[in-house]
Amino acid sequence: MSPQRSPSFLAEHVERLSRTHLRDLLRDTGRGERLRHRVGPILLDLSRQKLDAPALGALGAHVEASGWQAARDAMFAGEPINTSEHRAVLHTALRAGGSHLPSLAPREARQEIEQTLQRIERLIQAIERGEAASMGLPATITDVVNIGIGGSDLGPRLAVRALAPFHVPHMRSHFLTNVDGQAAHELMRQLDPKRTLVIVVSKTFTTQETLLNGNVLRDWIVRAYEGDARAATRHFIAVSANTAEAERWGVPASNVYPMWDFVGGRFSLWSAVGLSLALAIGMDHFRALLAGAARIDDHFRTAPWQENLPVLLSLIEYWNRNGLGTTSRAVVPYADLLGDLTSYLQQLEMESLGKQVTSQGQPATQSTSAVVWGSVGTNAQHAYFQALHQGTDVVPLEFIGVVRPAHTLRSNHDALLSNLLAQAAALALGKTFDEALAEVKSGDEAARRVLAAQRTFPGDRPSTLILLDSLTPESLGALIALYEHKVFMLGHLWDINAFDQWGVELGKVIARQILPALDGQVDDLTDFDSATRASIEAIQERREG
Ligand code: F6P
Repeated sequence: MSPQRSPSFLAEHVERLSRTHLRDLLRDTGRGERLRHRVGPILLDLSRQKLDAPALGALGAHVEASGWQAARDAMFAGEPINTSEHRAVLHTALRAGGSHLPSLAPREARQEIEQTLQRIERLIQAIERGEAASMGLPATITDVVNIGIGGSDLGPRLAVRALAPFHVPHMRSHFLTNVDGQAAHELMRQLDPKRTLVIVVSKTFTTQETLLNGNVLRDWIVRAYEGDARAATRHFIAVSANTAEAERWGVPASNVYPMWDFVGGRFSLWSAVGLSLALAIGMDHFRALLAGAARIDDHFRTAPWQENLPVLLSLIEYWNRNGLGTTSRAVVPYADLLGDLTSYLQQLEMESLGKQVTSQGQPATQSTSAVVWGSVGTNAQHAYFQALHQGTDVVPLEFIGVVRPAHTLRSNHDALLSNLLAQAAALALGKTFDEALAEVKSGDEAARRVLAAQRTFPGDRPSTLILLDSLTPESLGALIALYEHKVFMLGHLWDINAFDQWGVELGKVIARQILPALDGQVDDLTDFDSATRASIEAIQERREG
């Protein structure tokens, strides 16, 4: 059964708005006021979305009737809302120290979290004071390599890059993620093994890519110590919920930092998974990141839906996906420092919301996760924006801008922001055929009309604008928490479990079967399907070439 495209309560609004152009909606300045909201360092502007007050009211009535506040409180309280894995979902407890509200999370979890933060703090202080050796680490550390994939990579990677202006001196951060050996090869060429600290991050400590890369770097460091494996262990820290396996792999217990079952990998930046970030920016800034997220947690817990940024973002996504039937959303930060935001959101949203059955195992009745894609502007304008302006499909966009940059090149920044605003305006307003025709001065009437048709922009293409006052640990923490809660709300609205990811398992199983076949250890390939068999044979035939 294919999911219902437009829930019946939205149908009349979809129908009415199909006859209204965004250009006309934007004439109502009062509407704009109601669709712009600020919380702390974030301004959320939804005025370029294609909906009016009655449509928003219907969405609000729908969410109010859904029991979203009780569902939200159950998450904050640590109830096992990840039902397929019988787990609590307590990433908010990781930053509860920065909240101004009484925490609903179990006291035990909060204590473990605070103890771990204090361990991280002691580690950072020891490195800052040049006393790393006293913590069982190399005396001098110039480079930190985070080995991990998915949630054990994307959050720290995003934040380390976004917060480059806050980096401590004399310490470089690197991320080794893909199993493609090229990246490990390049790192080993560049770095001094005796001054490198490797953080192996894996919630399960069973992830093939991470363990393979961990082995490669361990061999490299052991070689630097002429085979002394004990000396090499000082260079490794592990972050895992499977501490026993991390120790078995060879990391001393004193260098293993915990993760917990109640934190999903893609929500784990705030835990010891963020260790490489904490090392890069220092503990005060790391705590500021947590405080920024906690501010949004408090807002999410207290604001009515009409002013609640995560709720509004989820309703807009619901409207575009289930009302207007769009299938993807482009995320375009106008900030190079946010260049990893899109890939971070791809995991956060698509791994959480790409589900086809409800939490009760019934077929989903509505379309779930849109495809999330995008890259930084202005570069994106010179690549795929043509299709966004004049292609046959409507793709909602999310623009993210920063008002005050961390540099003094004012004219660059004004050019950046003016482009952002221009794109949002052009997408919404478009250019009519008559306007285009008036611009074409030469040629006969028929030729002018042919050209004008090609120079017409339909407009009516929705976008969201998120403006950060500046890119700081606080505002980044707030931005990420905003997206996390939006994901929670969509999971609630779609009645799906946003906190498991069974869909990643099948490929992992098949890869384990193919691996020995590639290596020539399987004589009989007939158990594989014909296409896989042909590909294995093609690789085997040419690999020595
Ligand atoms: O394969 C998907 C996944 O399980 C993600 O959910 C997770 O973030 C990633 O792999 C890494 O897992 P781990 O932290 O256990 O190595």
